[in-house]
Amino acid sequence: MKLTTQENTTNNQSLLKRYNECRQITEEICEPLQPEDFVVQPVAEVSPPKWHLAHTTWFFENFILKDHMPEYKIFDDDYHFLFNSYYETEGERWQRSERGFLTRPWVKEVMAYRDYVDEHMAQFISQTTLSKSIIDVLEIGINHEQQHQELLVYDIKHILGINPLFPTYKTPISKSEEVILDQNFLDVAEGIYSIGYAGENFHFDNEEGEHKAFVHAYRIQDRLITAGEYIEFMEAGGYEDFNFWLMEGFEWAKGEKIKAPFYWFKEGGVWKHYTLGGLEEVNPNEPITHINYYEADAFAKWKGKRLPTEFEWEIACRQYEPTIPESANFLDQRSFRPMPRVGNSTQFFGDVWEWTNSAYAPYPFYQKVDGALGEYNGKFMINQMVLRGGSFATMKNHIRHTYRNFFHPNLRWHFTGLRLAETI
Ligand code: AVJ
Ligand code: FE
Repeated sequence: MKLTTQENTTNNQSLLKRYNECRQITEEICEPLQPEDFVVQPVAEVSPPKWHLAHTTWFFENFILKDHMPEYKIFDDDYHFLFNSYYETEGERWQRSERGFLTRPWVKEVMAYRDYVDEHMAQFISQTTLSKSIIDVLEIGINHEQQHQELLVYDIKHILGINPLFPTYKTPISKSEEVILDQNFLDVAEGIYSIGYAGENFHFDNEEGEHKAFVHAYRIQDRLITAGEYIEFMEAGGYEDFNFWLMEGFEWAKGEKIKAPFYWFKEGGVWKHYTLGGLEEVNPNEPITHINYYEADAFAKWKGKRLPTEFEWEIACRQYEPTIPESANFLDQRSFRPMPRVGNSTQFFGDVWEWTNSAYAPYPFYQKVDGALGEYNGKFMINQMVLRGGSFATMKNHIRHTYRNFFHPNLRWHFTGLRLAETI
């Protein structure tokens, strides 16, 4: 279909508006930070906030402006080496684990880089007739930056949370409403279901290629597991009993002397944890978070149940939460914490990402796209587990029923949780 000039201009304007809003939210997330907070990298998987600010900018410069805006001049030739994350197609790059060694470019230079790229992106988007393929890359760029917004929240929490001063990032809102925590399970009938993305809108390559999956009849919990339930597991000696653990997980917990979720410690007989609002007593009604795959799996086994597969999660979510609820706890709400379940919401969307027991592998019709963006998701399809549903650090317009997040099973600095399932 050929667009008229009028339609074209409207589309360009709405794209530019979305671009600007996205860039603005990234900066809003960094607003409470002090200069020192932007630079450190406490562990390899955490990137300095300054690096996220620059890398997301490099993405637009490198994949849009450099190739498609003829008069564009690269802001600084050295940035390509520093801010290319993992694209072999794009050549040599600075080592990931040493991102925190770089005090230069300093924050103001990175912000000037953002402004420069934003000015050119505004010119480019409003003055150019955008082809389908450029719009696709622009959509990836916006969704990429949204992923980094979420990573920024994980990383900021890590940077502040390992500091004995337990600094407050932001005073999060806290709702206290009626909490219903019965053990209810939702039934799903045996059958062959469609899995994966089938619509016309943006989606990542890893969810593309609608295909069929058979599931036996199963039950899936109608809410997330809470911190209180997890404390019961801890107090029943869950971490010490090998019967509940995968060997890798048991060795990990023993080796690292892990006895509680990340950010937790016991003081005066009370469980406390660092939150983005500072140090707090653990609220037993809040969804459990900061547990890795091994811990989620051990908890489920202790309960005599299991984690759902990603297919079971997707099928149940479509059936019981066909549209994303307005009230879902996403970054849009700026709550900066997982929230106790309100009423009888099923919590499929928002709050914390849910570990599934599905390995992150290509779907049957997965196809790697040509060029650097073929490296975006496909090359990570080994040794990682799929998580579903988004967290309080995800933008609502970023997530879908078919969205597949993935992390290594030992990691737990991101906002993770679980719900139980069982075959009937
Ligand atoms: C989908 C969150 C695992 O952290 O590397 C960022 C997101 N991809 N830049 C990651 C991503 C490219 C990705 N995760
Ligand atoms: Fe990235």
